[in-house]
Amino acid sequence: MSVIASMMKENIEQGSLIRQMFDLGIKLKQQYGEENVLDFSLGNPDLPPPPVVREAMADLARNLNRPGSLGYMQNAGFSWALEALAEELSKEQQIKLTKSDVMLSCGAAGAMNAFFHSVLEPEDEVLAFVPFFGEYKFYTQNHGGVFKTVAAKENFLPDFEELENALTPKTRIVVVNSPNNPTGIIYPEETIKKLAEILAKASEKFGRPIYMVSDEPYRYLAYDGCTVPAVLPLYKYAVVISSFSKKFGIAGERIGYLAVSPEIEDKELLMSACIMSNRVLGFVNPPVVGQYLMKAALGTSVQEAFDIYAKRRQIFCEILDNAGLEYQKPMGAFYIFPKAPGGDDNLLITCLQEEKILGVSGKGFGLAGYIRLCYAVEDTVIAKSRDGFKRAADKARSLLKV
Ligand SMILES: Cc1ncc(COP(=O)(O)O)c(C=O)c1O
Repeated sequence: MSVIASMMKENIEQGSLIRQMFDLGIKLKQQYGEENVLDFSLGNPDLPPPPVVREAMADLARNLNRPGSLGYMQNAGFSWALEALAEELSKEQQIKLTKSDVMLSCGAAGAMNAFFHSVLEPEDEVLAFVPFFGEYKFYTQNHGGVFKTVAAKENFLPDFEELENALTPKTRIVVVNSPNNPTGIIYPEETIKKLAEILAKASEKFGRPIYMVSDEPYRYLAYDGCTVPAVLPLYKYAVVISSFSKKFGIAGERIGYLAVSPEIEDKELLMSACIMSNRVLGFVNPPVVGQYLMKAALGTSVQEAFDIYAKRRQIFCEILDNAGLEYQKPMGAFYIFPKAPGGDDNLLITCLQEEKILGVSGKGFGLAGYIRLCYAVEDTVIAKSRDGFKRAADKARSLLKV
């Protein structure tokens, strides 16, 4: 007699890689003390929200005496919040957006679920390039879809031929995540244009839109002068999904959004479906507090946080160089995805754990043979891991004789 659905049983097992690491982190911290465990397993921004967010929170608290100040509002969010967001995204996406082109939700995760719920027919396919943010698979299943992966090239850029072979009349969504979690890769504009061309042709051939969902919560973190191309002007069926979780360090506050290309035919119908989905999935509306914080913080410079992450990236790259681990230098986000010696990610993870260093196997992102490390942790923690990384990599190489 099972108390849960069989699909959830499988999901709990599949979702266990990051959870196991989370549990292990707690155990090791209890055993050796918080400061002695070097935890690079979680993508949780460690920087405090910028002062403008803290001031907005205090301001809001002082004004809570108004009736219904923390009550429900329209399912898409407050009108003033949508207007402010549309104005900001018009600059970022280099296309004129109005409040009817955007919807607020509970994080990028909520917005993506609302969108998937709105457009997926049973058995419709959602494609993502390997390696991918593992949650996409669950978000697809949540709405009766089938999640399929597409191989990427060595440099983690999409393999167009593989994509063309993967497209079928059931394909409804292709997810693009740039800057990427877990690789830190940014897709150049040429890549987005080529993807748009392939998807436009396939949409025409199969007689219904194939959406390009651009999941971009790390857009603000692009290093070395790299730019993240705006997708909305490049493809009629592009949808931007993002949030302020990482940008303003408010991940737990759950404020995110989606924005659609104003050129989509039947845009009003599509937005009505997304707004209805926000409601019936049980989000009901985006968080009140998050909308106030967002409005206050929009347009604020995050240069300080950017500089901190850029410095950490540098330190981490030097540590991996010192350990002789191969990786592609991240262009954006706060992750790095080195190759495990001999392609044995389990062994590298085990050797690192002996040094009280935590990372996550690439298997959680659909690509064995690699590990993901997150550098949203203090510089001192990163610096402390230098010798441990070297010893762990040396040990893995010597055990494998590579
Ligand atoms: C690639 C990617 N997409 C979406 C999300 C979800 O972010 P949010 O907190 O906005 O739901 C994350 C969070 O780590 C992420 O890394």
